[in-house]
Amino acid sequence: MKVIAGNSNRPLAEAISAALNVPLTKANIRRFSDMEVFVEILENVRGEDVFVVQSTSHPANDNLMELLVTIDALKRGSARRITAVIPYFGYARQDRKTGPRTPISAKLVANLITTAGADRVLTMDLHAGQIQGFFDIPLDNLMAAPEFVKDIKRTTPDGDQLMIVSPDVGGVVRARALAKRLDADLAIIDKRRERAGVSEVMNIIGDVSNRRCILVDDIVDSGGTLCNAAVALMDAGAKSVSAYVTHGVLSGGAVARVAASPLQELVTTDSIQATEAVRVSRNVRQMTISQLMAEAITRISEERSVSSLFD
Ligand code: R5P
Repeated sequence: MKVIAGNSNRPLAEAISAALNVPLTKANIRRFSDMEVFVEILENVRGEDVFVVQSTSHPANDNLMELLVTIDALKRGSARRITAVIPYFGYARQDRKTGPRTPISAKLVANLITTAGADRVLTMDLHAGQIQGFFDIPLDNLMAAPEFVKDIKRTTPDGDQLMIVSPDVGGVVRARALAKRLDADLAIIDKRRERAGVSEVMNIIGDVSNRRCILVDDIVDSGGTLCNAAVALMDAGAKSVSAYVTHGVLSGGAVARVAASPLQELVTTDSIQATEAVRVSRNVRQMTISQLMAEAITRISEERSVSSLFD
């Protein structure tokens, strides 16, 4: 087995390599002076089972191009099997036409990865499960939920006061699954703008008064969805509000917005490398998925089932 790291998330790749006890394969992934991506694999990969770890997070286009060029280099170096390990799959929110003459970029990215030469994909909490079908190669879509459950049980003492909350109607399936694992109640926030130009109304389905609310989502980007939900829950009498979100995109002033919000804590995974703002933040914490990724890689390599990782 060989593990190669792109530049998007070296700390996670190094943690995965340490958990596997497999050193990262030496590779030179760099830019020419005109910023074209150049990749040189510095070890023999002929006949090897190769895993390329690269999230397509910010800067999404550069990181995607690095992934594609690395896969191409491995294919031309006669790797036996190439698995694209993409802890955060960027472009996933563009998974359908949202209007006339708009793209389905998630499908285009899936095509690019397949055409570059990936034999399979390992990822986590895709924005929509159906994106698996955009690939005509095997794809394993791991879930952060089992890791979140362990962390919630460890950090939330009065479990009977727990209320899992979906911050929008689109996230209900994900929130319900977590509530079931924790044997907790479920509430849903329904955002509505009655008329154009009139501010959004947040209706909470469920009684959250005196409850420890945990918001669950797949992505936190600007932080608007979470912070507005946290305010609405506190206004409705919640005892506290925290959030578990798989992918901390946290663009623009998101970390500051989260810091200024009533959120006690925002927990994300390290599918995207923490920025300095995240590292020094008062209420954002990252938990690592390196062990989970390493276990999935081992099982794929040994042709064993990965389904127990979903328990
Ligand atoms: C939307 O469908 C996603 O699940 C997230 O709720 C959304 O991407 C969060 O974005 P933001 O943090 O910018 O509100």
